[in-house]
Amino acid sequence: MKSISGNEVVFRGFNIATMDPDSAEISCELSNAPLCDLTKNLEYGMLSGAAIGVEAGKIKWLALEHEIDRHELTFAQTVHGEGKLLTPGLIDCHSHLVFGGNRSAEWERRLNGLSYEDIAKQGGGILSTVSATRKATEEELFQTAAERMKSLLSEGVTTVEIKSGYGLNLDSELKMLRVANRLGLEFPVSVEATLLAAHAVAPEFKGNPDGFIQHVCDTIIPQSVELCSSVDAFCETIAFDLAQTERVFERARQFGLNIKVHAEQLSHTGAAALAANMGAISADHLEFLSEDDCVTLSSQGTVATLLPGAFYCLNEKQKPPIAALRENQVPLAIATDSNPGSSPVLSLLLIGNMACNLFGLTPSEAIAGMTINAAKALNLDKEVGSINKQKQADFATWNVNSPTELVYNVGGNPSAGVYKLGKRTQF
Ligand code: NIG
Ligand code: FE
Repeated sequence: MKSISGNEVVFRGFNIATMDPDSAEISCELSNAPLCDLTKNLEYGMLSGAAIGVEAGKIKWLALEHEIDRHELTFAQTVHGEGKLLTPGLIDCHSHLVFGGNRSAEWERRLNGLSYEDIAKQGGGILSTVSATRKATEEELFQTAAERMKSLLSEGVTTVEIKSGYGLNLDSELKMLRVANRLGLEFPVSVEATLLAAHAVAPEFKGNPDGFIQHVCDTIIPQSVELCSSVDAFCETIAFDLAQTERVFERARQFGLNIKVHAEQLSHTGAAALAANMGAISADHLEFLSEDDCVTLSSQGTVATLLPGAFYCLNEKQKPPIAALRENQVPLAIATDSNPGSSPVLSLLLIGNMACNLFGLTPSEAIAGMTINAAKALNLDKEVGSINKQKQADFATWNVNSPTELVYNVGGNPSAGVYKLGKRTQF
């Protein structure tokens, strides 16, 4: 018996949803036989009878199991799948996981007929979370967000984007970003932190949104650069207009930060197209997106991130233009948008079900939306999101027969174990 390396961990006996049906990267190191033919055109890029070799936290090779047997190879450690499903670790590419307090009372007011916009105009909504977040200590914010993080991780999530946006002043925005980054250090998850200082007009700048945007551009963005990889803005009648949004993105670009946008959620503002034309990696929400906007997203390679949790929780009626997005081959991601107001949701699998049942995505689009396309929405698709050589060994394993079952069930958790950088997670 021979070993091809002293340190390799091999995952074998899984049905592997590579989520990359076309990749020429899938090749057999042992025999030079390409594996891509085996997955080409198969939904989910399914691969069975193949093993994954992991070294130093990365996928080193994919190989046919019978080749491994034929060469009588042994490895430092073998993880046996026993027919379970293996997918890339799931990616929640849009969340507001860090915040103080909750808004259950506001939800009850909405059940009694008030709208999300009414509440925002009366100074509730985002601003009530801003006041609770400012009051909370950094430790309190960490502990409450940690509990939410555990829910996501228990369902196979290995990468999470977390936005600030409930501080709206320098100290509190930095506090939120530090908590987001600390979550990534203390849990087996990669955290991408996003500055969303342009989420609502800070109370100190009431009636002076331009003055607040000036403060965001002059002070908050420059001092947040070390703590975030992206800058986001909420362009909406109840938040910032197109010109203000553009100023924020101009500044973000000067610092080389990625751009993301909350756009076309409650009305059509043109922010998705603006952001795409400025190089945004994703435009999010998009219920009021136009067909022309779909052409723009497509031409700029901007991912459309759909947030069915907010659509569901706000009882919205207008759905994103799925047919036009498909026609223009815009990559579709989906995410929890986990936040205390519009989407108090802590299950990415449930979001997958909502994306299918409410927006009409296919299960395969929904799962691509929480793996490979979610990676694209974070500009991380070279590192995560599919099972490919050289990507991180972030895997979710499942007690199901087919990936469809992951989004078919409502409730229940079919997780059979999660691996971050090749190591089984515990938290
Ligand atoms: O993504 N749309 C704006 N921001 C959040 C909601 C924030 C809140 O209501 O607290 C969202 O839906
Ligand atoms: Fe959001």
